[in-house]
Amino acid sequence: MKIFVINGPSLNLLGIREPDVYGREDYAALLRFIREAAAEAGVSVETFQSNHEGTLVDAIHSAYGRFDAIVINPAAYTHTSVAILDALRAVALPAVEVHLTDISAREPFRRVSYAGMACERTIAGRGFEGYREAIRYLAEKYNETEPKGGTER
Ligand code: DQA
Repeated sequence: MKIFVINGPSLNLLGIREPDVYGREDYAALLRFIREAAAEAGVSVETFQSNHEGTLVDAIHSAYGRFDAIVINPAAYTHTSVAILDALRAVALPAVEVHLTDISAREPFRRVSYAGMACERTIAGRGFEGYREAIRYLAEKYNETEPKGGTER
């Protein structure tokens, strides 16, 4: 199973960006964490980050036929982008939305998630762990590389 992990604007500045809100670990550390989580779950993973809405839409489109599922943190576009919602609906891959912070407990404008409307689950407020949970959830639900039920060796 192949999972595409897509990160939106300013997540590339993790560690520098509002460390009291987003933590002190940088984006490279997040990528390492995601790779480890994928290895643990027995799935392959590719990551992508962009600060541009249209580029994120293109990345979601590019997942069609190449990936089995999407994990997405659309960052600020979560709360504004019907284009990202429509792109997720267009490719219709199983998707999980992740946020490092608890978007329901911050400013009111963060309470709406357009992307979340196309996602099976939202995991928010668990920091990097949220990505592990999302990958694990998708692997458990959709990974068919391991035989289900009894195994014959
Ligand atoms: C975020 C939450 C968003 O509201 C914010 O705009 C981000 C990051 C998170 O991971 O907590 O950029 O998606």
